[in-house]
Amino acid sequence: MKLSNNFLWGGAISANQTEGAYLADKKGLANFDMLPMNEMRLKDVYLDQENFFSDQEAYFPSHTAIDFYTNFVTDIQLLAEMGIKCFRFSIAWSRIFPKGIEAEPNAAGVAYYDALINELIKYDIEPLVTISHFDIPMYLVEHFGGWASREVVDFHFQFAKFLVNRYQNKIRYWIPFNEMNMLLHIPFIGGGLTFTTTENKLQKQYQAAHHQLIANAKIIEYGKKINSELQFGSMLAAGKTYAYTAKPEDNLATMLKERNLFFFGDVQARGKYPNYIKGYFEKNQIDISMAAGDEELLARNTVDFVSFSYYSSDCAAADEADMERVRTNGFTTVKNPYLTSRNHSWQIDPIGLRIMLNNLYDRYNLPLFIVENGLGTPDELTADLKIHDDYRIDYLKRHLAQMIQAVEEDHIELLGYTSWGCIDLVSVTEGKMSKRYGYIYVDKDDYGHGSGQRYKKDSYYWYQKVIGSNGENISEK
Ligand code: BG6
Repeated sequence: MKLSNNFLWGGAISANQTEGAYLADKKGLANFDMLPMNEMRLKDVYLDQENFFSDQEAYFPSHTAIDFYTNFVTDIQLLAEMGIKCFRFSIAWSRIFPKGIEAEPNAAGVAYYDALINELIKYDIEPLVTISHFDIPMYLVEHFGGWASREVVDFHFQFAKFLVNRYQNKIRYWIPFNEMNMLLHIPFIGGGLTFTTTENKLQKQYQAAHHQLIANAKIIEYGKKINSELQFGSMLAAGKTYAYTAKPEDNLATMLKERNLFFFGDVQARGKYPNYIKGYFEKNQIDISMAAGDEELLARNTVDFVSFSYYSSDCAAADEADMERVRTNGFTTVKNPYLTSRNHSWQIDPIGLRIMLNNLYDRYNLPLFIVENGLGTPDELTADLKIHDDYRIDYLKRHLAQMIQAVEEDHIELLGYTSWGCIDLVSVTEGKMSKRYGYIYVDKDDYGHGSGQRYKKDSYYWYQKVIGSNGENISEK
């Protein structure tokens, strides 16, 4: 089987990591705007302990980001010239409903997304929309406790319904939530959750997950009712987990760890809470409060496709004490001795992508979509304004080779591949510009200093050829 001629080659970004203009045109403050560029940003927020809310001196990178809000026309032009067929972006909730509770949307915010979507359509680029990408109005965090509150489901429904009504004839592919499983690792970012030191944290995280799962099902139900052509997808942060050794104990630990990921896919794709999670809830004194009709709603509204991000893989052992650990997406993992990394960052594992594609396809039997993949690392802008990012090309090439094998040899149904941060953006976990993923370089440093000018990297020309040849020429530069 070959990649189809309609294969959606593209790039992906999120609103909070690119737009900047964080209070422009009546936009409200979002959880992401509170995150400083320092090591505190990944820490859980305990309201009865020191947290980043009081750090007024810090630098907040989302406030300006790459100013995509004012540059989107020329940025999309550059991406169109690279040949992308699909563009994944997210809609900032607080740009449309600044506090999240308003009866009417903010006209200026709506006008911005109207223009952005029309720009994509002008170039025949398929929009792929994430409704919520680590983004919730701060008002809902402060007054309702974020996704811990059931009321937020209705506020979100109003937002999502507005988008689906307005863009149903322009946008076919919808991802209601980015990486829902991140609620377990970075709960303030994933759900605007805050804690007190005495409460059962897991209880709140899984209750918030239930609310997001319900919100997901509600918008699928509504979307399908008004337009049966619309396609809805789950989105998982999917790093393959390997057992550290062949010991059965390590393999059991691996299976249990993978449930942190599969739980979210299982509910969204199979329409019910899996039995294993009930045992986990009992063990951890978690008691999910469900409203009448919730189970039926979940069962009726499963996703059409399963999308995921893949950067790296994890490793698990029965006894992880004293084992060397490394950072990965949103948490740390036992170091895999067979993998290497660039600049001590996330371990690189292209084969893990093929395994993940197979694991997800075997489990869900639904079309898959790789909506994030890439290498985040510093680049150097040379004196003659070039960026020679062979290391990025190498990373992408090796991942694409595995992806193509998964389609050709394993016959995985794959809708597309949108690499992450096709234009440089602010990193989530580090808050830095210098963790760059793009094919397009943005001249800004970690503190937002710089001209903001855009430059094409070597990888830009490479990806142009990959797309132009529908994946035949991944090795050519
Ligand atoms: C994913 C997120 O988890 O990982 C993106 O959906 C994020 O928003 C990406 O940017 C890479 O992580 P980081 O920390 O390198 O930006």
